[in-house]
Amino acid sequence: MRPSKPAFTLKGKRLWVAGHSGMVGAAIVRRLKYEGCEVLTAARRDVDLTNQRETERWMEAARPDAVFLCAARVGGIYANSSFPAEFIADNLAIGLNVIRASYRVGVAKLLNLGSSCIYPRDAAQPMPESALLTGPLEPTNEWYAIAKIAAIKLCQAYRLQYGADFISLMPTNLFGPGDNYDPNYGHAPAGLIRRFHEAKVERRGVVKVWGSGRQRREFLSVDDLADACIHLMKTYSGVEIVNVGTGRDISIGEFAKLVADVVGFEGNIEFDTSRPDGPKQKLLDVRKLTESGWSARRELRDALCEAYADFLAREKSSWSRGQSAVPMRGVMLAGESSGLAAIGADQAS
Ligand SMILES: NC(=O)c1ccc[n+]([C@@H]2O[C@H](COP(=O)([O-])OP(=O)(O)OC[C@H]3O[C@@H](n4cnc5c(N)ncnc54)[C@H](OP(=O)(O)O)[C@@H]3O)[C@@H](O)[C@H]2O)c1
Repeated sequence: MRPSKPAFTLKGKRLWVAGHSGMVGAAIVRRLKYEGCEVLTAARRDVDLTNQRETERWMEAARPDAVFLCAARVGGIYANSSFPAEFIADNLAIGLNVIRASYRVGVAKLLNLGSSCIYPRDAAQPMPESALLTGPLEPTNEWYAIAKIAAIKLCQAYRLQYGADFISLMPTNLFGPGDNYDPNYGHAPAGLIRRFHEAKVERRGVVKVWGSGRQRREFLSVDDLADACIHLMKTYSGVEIVNVGTGRDISIGEFAKLVADVVGFEGNIEFDTSRPDGPKQKLLDVRKLTESGWSARRELRDALCEAYADFLAREKSSWSRGQSAVPMRGVMLAGESSGLAAIGADQAS
């Protein structure tokens, strides 16, 4: 995959990370410390990105050179099913407001985040970028998917009509520091971390995982994603989307065992085969990414250790504030019906 334009330099530039308080945005802010650039952020209380006027006003004043669009209403199957109007409307609004305002104020480069969960439900595995819009979506997250696809199309349209250097990436399932560890509403890896941790502390002998454990999924550390974002921001300029994953999948059974081991849970894991597995496999085709000169560096176990350390640190700070659990971020209305239960199903993330 060759860049169609010369490399984009970050040094000395003003970069806005939209959604800097989220898991992905925070990882990008951490990674940008090594780039010698000025990082701009805006809290939601100052700029509600679903509000066109507020977004335009902020961008006219801030005049960033480049934008990482990481802001979104993110959640799992239950959230999508319960709040379809907010999922489609907020994500459409955030995409339109940020992308159009970026063009209007002359942003030199914008990186937009799609998601592997917006590929068609029955896409061939591993999923190439060309699979987008080739079949019906997963019905449980179509609201979110339609909005994310619209943002990708907006980037492509501004590039084709006006030559705007706007690119879109398709990250796989993510985990790592800043994740939502809520047992009911968090993403699957974070949900597993909490369940195994609690089982260990309460000395329970068994943790149940829904499904057979045979379905295969791909997981990427959010810090690896941030590194890939910086790499592609600098080197890639094209209308096509680019998948970002490890290119390796793991069965849910193996993944659950790995999480249990990292957490130190020594009991048994039971797979509840009366519960649905979801698709047999979900894996991205990462050939384009690899050809661009980037591949994931972190080992899954090491990245899970970092995630568990983050969980423990946040758990400790929430206890010291008198709360009983790591709090949910404001944007997460709800999510998976259970970190364990829904691990085989798709996330709207
Ligand atoms: N997590 C995954 O597994 C995954 C996988 C693939 C792709 N992605 C993509 O990565 C991106 C970021 O995901 P994430 O996991 O980092 O989500 P997240 O942790 O929920 O963060 C979302 C961010 O968006 C901000 N935001 C939401 N609505 C806003 C509004 N109206 N105005 C201003 N800010 C708003 C949130 O601000 P507050 O802190 O104020 O709520 C937060 O900073 C999304 O586009 C998602 O599709 C994520």
